[in-house]
Amino acid sequence: MAGRYSEEIIEEVRNAVDLVEIASRYVRLKKSGNSYMGCCPFHKEKTPSFHIDADKQLYHCFGCGAGGSVFQFVMNAEGMDFIDAVKSLADSAGIRLPELGPDGGEERYRRKQDMYAMNKDAARFFRDCLFSEEGAGAREYFRRRALTSKTVASFGLGYSPTGWDGLLKHLEAMGYPRDMMVEAGLCIRNDRGRVYDRFRGRVMFPIFDARSNLIGFAGRIMEGEGAKYVNSPESIIYDKGKNLFALNLARKSRRGYYILVEGYMDVISLHQAGIDCAVAGCGTALTEAQAKLIARGNTVYLCYDMDEAGKKARDRAFSIFKGLDAKLRVITIPDGKDADEFIKKYGGEQFEKLLGNASTVTGNRVDALLSKYDLTDVSQKVELINEAADIFAGIPNMVEREAYIRDMAVKTGISFESISAEVRKAGGRRQRNEVLNDVRRSVSSSRTVQEGRREGRREASERRLLGLICGDGRLYKKLKDNLTEDLFSTEIHRDIFRTIKESCDSGIDAQQQLMKSYRGREEELSSVLIVSDDPQNALAAAEDYIRIIKEEAMREMIAEAEKSGDVALLAELLKNNRKAGM
Ligand code: CTP
Ligand code: MN
Repeated sequence: MAGRYSEEIIEEVRNAVDLVEIASRYVRLKKSGNSYMGCCPFHKEKTPSFHIDADKQLYHCFGCGAGGSVFQFVMNAEGMDFIDAVKSLADSAGIRLPELGPDGGEERYRRKQDMYAMNKDAARFFRDCLFSEEGAGAREYFRRRALTSKTVASFGLGYSPTGWDGLLKHLEAMGYPRDMMVEAGLCIRNDRGRVYDRFRGRVMFPIFDARSNLIGFAGRIMEGEGAKYVNSPESIIYDKGKNLFALNLARKSRRGYYILVEGYMDVISLHQAGIDCAVAGCGTALTEAQAKLIARGNTVYLCYDMDEAGKKARDRAFSIFKGLDAKLRVITIPDGKDADEFIKKYGGEQFEKLLGNASTVTGNRVDALLSKYDLTDVSQKVELINEAADIFAGIPNMVEREAYIRDMAVKTGISFESISAEVRKAGGRRQRNEVLNDVRRSVSSSRTVQEGRREGRREASERRLLGLICGDGRLYKKLKDNLTEDLFSTEIHRDIFRTIKESCDSGIDAQQQLMKSYRGREEELSSVLIVSDDPQNALAAAEDYIRIIKEEAMREMIAEAEKSGDVALLAELLKNNRKAGM
C-alpha cells in the first residue's frame, strides 16, 4: 500500500500535517488533555465516540471501529486511495512531491493517470467538434439555453459527433489502446467484439473529481428520441457515489456554503450567475459519501426540483444529512421547475433572494403538512397536529421549538397549550423509542466498551490493558509475571503484546516501536493506542483488566466444556473457578 513514494517523503508529509487540524475540517472537536473527541464523521452518532490522540497523531472511533493515521483519515473521509491522500496532504502542507517514475508497483495508479489523460484528450476532441461545422446545432443548443461562451469554455462543454467512431479513430491515432477506451467508458465493445463510440450526437459535459481529474462524461440529447442522458459507466476512476459534479469548482468558492441541485444544467446556470458553490450528483441518488463531501460543518442548501421526484430526493437528502454535521436549508422555487429555469427567467439576484428565504428542514416539513391536510376538517386537523407534534418534539432547542408551536397555533387556530401538550406526549414516545434503539444497538455492537456481551468485554479489556502497558515501561515491569501471550484472544492483540514485551525487555520505548512496526497500517493499532484511562490509576486499572480477561476466558472455557459435554473438564474448571474466588 505504501505506493511508490519513498518512506522518507511519506514521513515528511506525515510530520508536516496535523491530524487534529485536518480532522476538524470534518468534525467539531472538543479538547480534553492531549486528546480530542467528537462525533465520528464516518458513521452517524449523537454521542461522541471519535477520539484523536494529538501526540500520537492517531484517531479511533469506538462506535464504528474506524481508525488510523492522518493518511487513513483522508482516505476514509475523501474516498481516496493512498497515493491521492498523500498528494492532497502534501498539497495542503506545501510540500512538492517527486514525480512518480514510470515503473514500480503502482500499476493501478499509472493506469488511472493514463485514463485521466485520455479523458482530457477526449474532452478536447468534443470541444473541437463543438466549434467545427458539425457542431453548429450544439452551439445553437447552448445558445438557446443561454450559456455564454465563457461558461462553455470554463465547464469544458463539447459535442460528440454522430458517426460511430469519430472519437475512437481520434484517440487511436493518439496512441490510446482500445481496451482503455472501453474501460473508461468512452467506447463500447459489443458481443461480436466491435468497438464504437458511446457518445454520439450529444452535447457533452465533462465530470471532474474534487482534485480536478477528468473522470467521466455526461452526454445530453438535444432533441428527438432516446435517453435524455448517456453517462460514463463506473470505472476505476469514476465512482458515481463518491463524486459531485462541479465540486472542484465549488470547493474554491468564497461563499462558505454549498447548494445541492439536481441537474448538471442547474449547476452550470448557477455558476454562470456567479453562484459558484453549486454542486449536483452524477445521475444517481444522493449517497452518504457525497453528503459527507460537503457537510463538514457547512451550511448546505438543498435545491431540488419542485416535482414529485424532487420531493422524494429531498426527503432522502434530509435523512442522509441528519446524522452529519451540516446545517440544512431548503430552497423553494416559487415559479418554474428547477434552478436553471428560475435563473433563466429571473436572473441570479432573484435566486440570491431565494437563498435568503430558504427554510429550515422543520419549516419545510411543516409547510408540507399544512398543504397535505384540509384544515376545515376536524379529524384531518387532529392528524396534522399529531404529525407536527412529532416533528416539534425532535427539536432540541426549546426556543426554536416554542417558535414553531406558536406559528402552528396561529395557522391552525388551536391553542398553544394544546399543541404543547401533544408535543410533550410525542416527546415521551420518542424517548422510549430512543432507549429501545440504544439497547438494540448495544446488544448488536461488539465494539463498544461498556456493553454486556462477553467477547466485547474481553476484547475491550485486552485493548485497554495493552494501551496502558505500552505507554508505561514501569507498569509493564510490575505486571510482567501476570502477563502472558495467551491472555490475548486475537492475533492482532497477541502481536501487539509481543512487540511491547520485546521492547520493554530490551529497554526500548514500546509505543515508538509499535508506531514503527505498524507504519502504514495504523488502523490496526489505533484502538489500542488511544486510551482514555487515567494514568494515575494505571496499576489498579491494569489489574482490573487482567482480572476481567481471566474471568472471561474462564467463562468461555466453561461454556465450551458445557457445549461439548466434557463433564470431567467442566468439573475441573468449576473447581478452579471456585478456588479463584469467582
Ligand atoms: N439524469 C440522468 N439520466 C437521465 C435523466 C437524468 O443521468 N436519463 C440525471 C442527470 O444527472 C441530470 C439529473 O439527473 O442532470 C437531473 O435530471 P433532469 O432534471 O432531467 O436534467 P437536467 O440536467 O436538469 O437537464 P435539463 O435542464 O436540460 O432538463
Ligand atoms: Mn433539471
